[in-house]
Amino acid sequence: MTSWTLECSACVPVRTRDADGFPGVCDVCGSPYLVRYAALPSPEAKSLLRCQRWTMWRYDGWLPLASGEHPVTLGEGGTPLLKVERLAARLGFDHLWVKDEGVNPTGSFKARGLAAAVTRAVLAGAKQFVVPTAGNAGVALAAYAARAGVEARIYAPTSTPKTILDQIRAFGGDLLLLDGHIGDCGIAARLYAANTGAIDVSTLREPYRIEGKKTLGLEIAEQLGWNLPDVIVYPTGGGTGLIGMWKAFQELQQSGWLRSPLPRMFTVQAEGCAPIVQAFESGAERAAPWPDPRTVAAGLRVPGPLGDRLMLRALRESRGGVVAVSDEALSTAAHDLQVGEGIDAAPEGGAAVAGALSLLRRGIIRAEERVVVFNTGAGWLYRA
Ligand SMILES: Cc1ncc(COP(=O)(O)O)c(C=O)c1O
Repeated sequence: MTSWTLECSACVPVRTRDADGFPGVCDVCGSPYLVRYAALPSPEAKSLLRCQRWTMWRYDGWLPLASGEHPVTLGEGGTPLLKVERLAARLGFDHLWVKDEGVNPTGSFKARGLAAAVTRAVLAGAKQFVVPTAGNAGVALAAYAARAGVEARIYAPTSTPKTILDQIRAFGGDLLLLDGHIGDCGIAARLYAANTGAIDVSTLREPYRIEGKKTLGLEIAEQLGWNLPDVIVYPTGGGTGLIGMWKAFQELQQSGWLRSPLPRMFTVQAEGCAPIVQAFESGAERAAPWPDPRTVAAGLRVPGPLGDRLMLRALRESRGGVVAVSDEALSTAAHDLQVGEGIDAAPEGGAAVAGALSLLRRGIIRAEERVVVFNTGAGWLYRA
């Protein structure tokens, strides 16, 4: 039976608490909690995967779900890892894959985290949720709240792509638009949670979205025969995907499931909002808030992420790095994925490809390395 506690990601000495109720951030220092399992699946448990359906819940032994508990699910996960040989040849890579998260229910990788967070909170009795969003997390929360029969309040910037806003409303989300960016929406969401008792599922303000995102890493490992790639290039905003994947790789390594070393992890941000790139390059442990964030890749418009310390730690521990790309470069790369490979990339997916290319041209990635880039969302969500 799976059991776990919560560990503060910053307190020294390490501070833990039990997982009852609705855990938020550490009540001493305000940093995110991470889930620590009493035991992880043994290598023999690999054979059990054969009997599991291709959704993220096939990895239930790695997830915060006790036996007898049922997840709130729309069939999220199990997305294709596509070898893109034509694009690779054109750009100069020998081995390039795209993990296509745009085909998830709700059109983005946000489905994984919100499925996990809504599942845990509903099992603890939640009836009402709130989230600030750059767009896709709002669609996912609206859909998973509908699936669970509970309510969702969503705060999004007025600049969010219209189709994404339409999807939030289509799933019955109670949408409020604010002038400003996701940080301003976060302030409104915390106030709403304090006034109403709604559960705040903002990025890293509860510990379970990260666990859902971990399945990105578990899936890549299984799809590549438990041989991880040399390099992962990931479009980063709040950091849930990067932090979740790095946690998955560390847990897989601890449990003896891997046949390879861990990959180098690279963050891609937009030139108009690159707090993690700046912090990494200056050797800082925390990121300074980015003034006046601007980019067409809405999911990357996160000027002051709460997970900055965890992201920077993952990038440095993995001996990876950072890269910033222009809106022009990321839009061109998204178009290349669409017309060159038939993959309906979001601008953030374009950023991953543009970032990988920039790293290759500067010799930071070598042509012969095995590289996985993430298309984190569906392109159609960004079309009016
Ligand atoms: C399509 C897309 N890609 C990437 C991101 C960045 O997410 P994170 O850094 O939290 O994993 C977002 C966040 O909204 C997004 O919607």
